[in-house]
Amino acid sequence: MSGSRKFFVGGNWKMNGDKAAIDGIVDFMKKGPLNPNTEVVVGCPQCYLSYTREKLPAEIGVAAQNCYKVAKGAFTGEISPAMVKDCGCEWVILGHSERRNVFNEPDQLISEKVGHALEAGLKVIPCIGEKLDERESNRTEEVVFAQMKALVPNISDWSRVVIAYEPVWAIGTGKTASPEQAQDVHAKLRQWLTENVSAEVAESCRIIYGGSVSPSNCAELAKMGDIDGFLVGGASLKPDFVTIINARG
Ligand code: 13P
Repeated sequence: MSGSRKFFVGGNWKMNGDKAAIDGIVDFMKKGPLNPNTEVVVGCPQCYLSYTREKLPAEIGVAAQNCYKVAKGAFTGEISPAMVKDCGCEWVILGHSERRNVFNEPDQLISEKVGHALEAGLKVIPCIGEKLDERESNRTEEVVFAQMKALVPNISDWSRVVIAYEPVWAIGTGKTASPEQAQDVHAKLRQWLTENVSAEVAESCRIIYGGSVSPSNCAELAKMGDIDGFLVGGASLKPDFVTIINARG
């Protein structure tokens, strides 16, 4: 039952904001009020991880938006999970559609990153989702199941994983999946987990939805039994984020 899974709302700031903007976000998040039954995490640009961690109340998690698959070494421009932890942060978003489609990250690399981040002690939000042409050619299940299949061998601790289903056609487009469309994929993913991991993981793992979530559509989406929260892009930069955090009432 969804009742056993704590509602989870992540904000993904992407490559937006500066210290002044972060101060504004911290202000509206502190003011809230935020439903204490919702777990809240914000994903901020790597150069602001420490700044954001220091400013936000401890009960709000801070996530990196990416990190590499090894602890250290000659990998110019990359950061490691150990560095994310050293900045005081506990979370990382991996395999976001922009990492997959703008930076061409393949399933195998994302899976290795997830594996190393978990080994290093981080909590991980791996992202999956189909593109428009894949949905239109009825390949949604095939695509998201293949993305899941690549992740599974490197997931050593499911209790530190929150899966984000983000249909690429809904990201930043203002075109949200309908509650029924999203619920349908979430239920299929849960069934897939039952068959390919375990009934226990299928029952306990949170599957959150991302793609144009807004104050006007979050309540309907939050009512669906297999939607355990959201990963929010644009709206997480605005006070709207508080409404979304409180979507489940
Ligand atoms: P938008 O909410 O801006 O559509 O972005 C969704 C997203 O990519 C969150 O990771």
